[in-house]
Amino acid sequence: MAEDLNIVSGSKQEKYISITKQIEALITGEPDLTANLANIAAALKEQFGWFWVGFYMVKENANTGNSELVLGPFQGPVACTRIAKGRGVCGTSWAKEETIVVPDVEKFPGHIACSSASKSEIVVPIFNGTSVVGVLDVDSDRLDQFDAVDQQYLEAIVGLIKH
Ligand code: SME
Repeated sequence: MAEDLNIVSGSKQEKYISITKQIEALITGEPDLTANLANIAAALKEQFGWFWVGFYMVKENANTGNSELVLGPFQGPVACTRIAKGRGVCGTSWAKEETIVVPDVEKFPGHIACSSASKSEIVVPIFNGTSVVGVLDVDSDRLDQFDAVDQQYLEAIVGLIKH
């Protein structure tokens, strides 16, 4: 497909329907995971204008032998590089193997503040079969920006990722 995105206005659902189709076209036939994660982050950032959109991927730390989340492709300000299982919103989503919506990050115990500008957040686990291989993390600089609609569509988008 052409590399230009078609950015639409309208309801949140209309935006998701449009960008999901375009993400599918962007990554179909491209086997490189990093390239696809990078384009998904860029497409979501451009359509929604969120403060931070990106991926943390599960990787083994050669020094400790433990698996942890390591920063992957993203759009936005520089961010924390490594997150342990169970820590912060991302590490909790990984440990619980479920999407976590945080309306106010200051009220989430253990939230990792990569930036004080981040006010609300959604983290969606990426599955390869039954195991979590990473998470999609989206941060807004406004409170209460994510709901069940975001969860539904972002889960569908990460479901398009092939490993
Ligand atoms: N806030 C996240 C850390 C990642 S940054 O927001 C990019 C967390 O608590 O896991």
